[in-house]
Amino acid sequence: MTYSVAVSGASGYAGGEILRILAAHPDVEIRTVTAHSNAGQPLVQHQSHLRSLAHLILEQTTPEVLAGHDIVFLALPHGQSGQYTDVLGDTPVVIDAGADHRLESVADWDRFYGGDFHDPWVYGVPELPVAGSKQRDRLVGATRIAAPGCNASTVSLSLAPGVAAGVIDPSDIVTVLAVGPSGAGKSLKTNLLASEVLGTANPYAVGGTHRHIPEIRQALAAARPSTGSGTASTDAADQGIRISFTPVLVPMSRGILATSTAPITPGATDDEIRAAWEAAYGDETFVQLLPVGEFPRTADVLGANTALMGLAIDRAANRVVVVTAVDNLVKGTAGAAVQSMNIALGLAEGTALTVNGVAP
Ligand SMILES: NC(=O)c1ccc[n+]([C@@H]2O[C@H](COP(=O)([O-])OP(=O)(O)OC[C@H]3O[C@@H](n4cnc5c(N)ncnc54)[C@H](OP(=O)(O)O)[C@@H]3O)[C@@H](O)[C@H]2O)c1
Repeated sequence: MTYSVAVSGASGYAGGEILRILAAHPDVEIRTVTAHSNAGQPLVQHQSHLRSLAHLILEQTTPEVLAGHDIVFLALPHGQSGQYTDVLGDTPVVIDAGADHRLESVADWDRFYGGDFHDPWVYGVPELPVAGSKQRDRLVGATRIAAPGCNASTVSLSLAPGVAAGVIDPSDIVTVLAVGPSGAGKSLKTNLLASEVLGTANPYAVGGTHRHIPEIRQALAAARPSTGSGTASTDAADQGIRISFTPVLVPMSRGILATSTAPITPGATDDEIRAAWEAAYGDETFVQLLPVGEFPRTADVLGANTALMGLAIDRAANRVVVVTAVDNLVKGTAGAAVQSMNIALGLAEGTALTVNGVAP
């Protein structure tokens, strides 16, 4: 069977990456691409690297244009997806790359985003440990999928094994994360001009204000064995999940390098700590733990659907240190979306996805 697909936000970075991956997918036909201010123009005018899709014209994003496909991907600014998802009830599978269907807590949505709250959908991070199983199990047969925030999934994947195994204390997590400007989208912003970004590292959203914080807390709360039902807490902070999160904008077009630390649970041995991550990811294709003493570079995952992870145990500081590299546009969004789609449809999970990066 060939599935017909529409991709909205096709002129943007996330939409473009979804299209790049789907263009190599044997089971889908990209039938429709939509945009907003750039509707009416050829797709390649905005995605000049997508040569095999040169025949497509960007249409206006409307419910009528998106209706009638087997699968709709939405890659719109947060707060914009809900108006379409509300009226795509007949579409078999809808996958939202935005934040509108990620959070379970109305209070978190109001505090970090604002505007209308929409129901949470199945979270599209298959490898995430969740209350004794993997998020993958929930994606089987899913019809509504919320692809992750790129920073959020990087940090959640980094620490969930330790939370699930009880070998780290999630009440004192500290993450500092380097991210390239494609993570902020394609629209023009002064702070993303080359003259503001090149040759400098710029911290932003310092002091607990970044929008991905509640998403990380929610994922880590769901990883705890005590969660039982596997449903993420609507108030993860009250469950003792606390994170100090500082992103730093750095001059690389794509990529995230997240350094996350958390205190070691009293009594946890080095072997038990490492075994937690090995047990979580030893059988995974797209999340890989490096050997002891090795740490990833963003170049290793450029263009790849891979989260590459190094683990250190700092006994002097009594903290576990996890360094994780992802490509924000692949494993951080479009790759996660397509991987989740593959699982939902019962296709081979890695179809159209690669573990290999592009380096140098
Ligand atoms: N960039 C990343 O690394 C990343 C990672 C994870 C998740 N995401 C999420 O993916 C979504 C898209 O991000 P992006 O980085 O791709 O942003 P982007 O590059 O700015 O692209 C935004 C897209 O949405 C369209 N659009 C803007 N306003 C719209 C509206 N009111 N109605 C319909 N379409 C509208 C734009 O069309 P025009 O160009 O025609 O105006 C463009 O195609 C966001 O929710 C973001 O949080 C992004």
